[in-house]
Amino acid sequence: MSKRTYDSLRSARWFAPDDLRSFGHRSRIMQMGYAPQDWEGRPIIAILNTWSDINPCHSHFKQRVEDVKRGIFQAGGFPIELPAISLSENFVKPTTMLYRNMLAMEAEELLRSHPVDGAVLMGGCDKTTPGLLMGAISAGLPCIYLPAGPMLRGNWQGKILGSGSDAWKYWDERRAGKISKTEWIGVEGGIARSAGTCMTMGTASTMTAIAESIGMALPGASSIPAVDANHIRMAAECGRRIVDMVWEDLTPARILSRDSFLNAIAVAMAMGCSTNAVIHLIAMSRRAGCEVTLDDFDAASRKVPVIANVRPSGDTYLMEDFYYAGGLPGLMSRLGEHLQGNTMTVTGHSLAENIKDAQVYNDDVIRPMDNPLYPEGALAVLRGNLAPAGCVIKPSACAPQFLQHTGPALVFDDYPSMKAAVDDENLDVTPGHIMILRNAGPLGGPGMPEWGMLPIPVKLIKQGVRDMLRLSDARMSGTSYGACILHVAPESYVGGNLALVRTGDMITVDVPARRIHLEISDDELAARKANWTPPESRFERGYGWMFSQHILQADAGCDFDFLETSFGAPNKEPSI
Ligand code: FES
Ligand code: MG
Repeated sequence: MSKRTYDSLRSARWFAPDDLRSFGHRSRIMQMGYAPQDWEGRPIIAILNTWSDINPCHSHFKQRVEDVKRGIFQAGGFPIELPAISLSENFVKPTTMLYRNMLAMEAEELLRSHPVDGAVLMGGCDKTTPGLLMGAISAGLPCIYLPAGPMLRGNWQGKILGSGSDAWKYWDERRAGKISKTEWIGVEGGIARSAGTCMTMGTASTMTAIAESIGMALPGASSIPAVDANHIRMAAECGRRIVDMVWEDLTPARILSRDSFLNAIAVAMAMGCSTNAVIHLIAMSRRAGCEVTLDDFDAASRKVPVIANVRPSGDTYLMEDFYYAGGLPGLMSRLGEHLQGNTMTVTGHSLAENIKDAQVYNDDVIRPMDNPLYPEGALAVLRGNLAPAGCVIKPSACAPQFLQHTGPALVFDDYPSMKAAVDDENLDVTPGHIMILRNAGPLGGPGMPEWGMLPIPVKLIKQGVRDMLRLSDARMSGTSYGACILHVAPESYVGGNLALVRTGDMITVDVPARRIHLEISDDELAARKANWTPPESRFERGYGWMFSQHILQADAGCDFDFLETSFGAPNKEPSI
């Protein structure tokens, strides 16, 4: 492969010319103690670091960025750390999803406006992966993704705890009066006990695996626990590799294809992925100009079995076990015909070449294809009069009796009224009801919060009920489980038919037939629609107002319309 010359690099436009502008750039970088040897002839590498004091999933990034820099120096590059919004899933309200596109804009414009030739993207906590990648894809510079890595297994009283999943599970036990306050504090202190992302198959583990399977991360990078010494070595390797990627001009456009995204869908299915994968992968693929759709997910779900025995689809293992069992390269080595091996990756080699020596070391954690955890894929896409543009369910994580079910609706218009009702011991509800929360979509939430795993009413909990059908235009956490139908599009807030359901209406869910139907006549539906009045706007100013003007629906990936690569002509390089 022919290498680029120094004069052809973007950064050389800032630093090389013998003119007054470049004098300004050079004198100001010398103000920080650098000498010409630091930049002359070297690619300048941005490190987009989503560290913050309140993101526990990225708390090791403050040190890890030094390892990335070490690798960049070793390979002859010049690192520049550029902090980006951290999007701590645990603390940001109302939901980090409100700000995914903000991170994407920030990533794109950080890269475009600075004198940099390539980038290492440091993320992992849920929305940071799609946010960074969407922005970097649009910016178009060579870039490599460094996943934060999962945290260690949780532990409490000798029991292994998983992020999210066990919080919900033990909270139900606490609500049923089976766990004391003191024991509950023990759970709090044991469920998250190291730096790193959620170690269940939540959105973080799903999205970092997707980053690797589309070719944007080093082989195996997404599976290494955050605090493992191998993670430090991988960070330094990212630094070394990005310098060579700049010389090779290995841009996202040369790596990504529709096959890359179809590979990611197959991997997501085999992992028992978070439902959030659907929204983020669609958005990322549209940025890359090779769109995948809900139908691609549904097609893959009918073919690819779930073979990663990781909670919440599995009931035992966590990401740490997945790593010891061979990690993502091990899993991909089992997918055979479901992967297109000739897709390009950040290594400069094809996916097939990257995984040719991969092995699985534990057949119970990463199952053989003929002994899957679940014979069909993790997700199903349903359509019908309640969701003409689709909605999503995770059949591998719900009780089988709900895959075909007809029951009466119990409708809530907002989260507080739903929460008050489920705590009411006299609520008029049966295990056969279908609980609905609406006005929780991209505009209605706002930001499509992870409210989709509606709490089971306490009356039913006390009867021993642990699952029931729930339906909303919200998302749910990847660590959630249960018979939850999500992402109903169009959402109720913009007048989707979900807005027209009344308590007591019968609803039929048929997952094998991929159907969801409100059992009222088309005439009745039309009459209700004619009487529907749009709710008040959520925002009168600021970022929220801009969000409201431009957010796309769930089936289109919830990007802003104007950020989509196809929206207009490519942005020009800044003139200096
Ligand atoms: Fe950060 Fe789960 S809260 S990955
Ligand atoms: Mg999450």
